[in-house]
Amino acid sequence: MSSLTIKVNGIEVHGNCRESLLVQLEQAGLQPEYQCRNGMCGACRCKLKSGAVDQQDSMAFIRPNEILSCCSTPKSHLEIEFDYQLTFTEIKKTAE
Ligand code: FES
Repeated sequence: MSSLTIKVNGIEVHGNCRESLLVQLEQAGLQPEYQCRNGMCGACRCKLKSGAVDQQDSMAFIRPNEILSCCSTPKSHLEIEFDYQLTFTEIKKTAE
């Protein structure tokens, strides 16, 4: 499955099964929290409500049904939820 849907806090974005969730959410214009980007701090933790991910080994504490978006790659359509409201980055204009 190369193209899939990621529903995050009720917002649907297009995703893939190659890049980390954190990178994909950022590419979609969302700004999830993060610090280390390598599974150490837990700042990017979110709930996995449906679907499946491949998650690399990590040091950060997570509860059952939580994943680290920085080191998880989608394996299917996903629904995830952060326990805070996500903000959007400003859409960059292309050079004219
Ligand atoms: S950003 Fe630190 S664990 Fe994901």
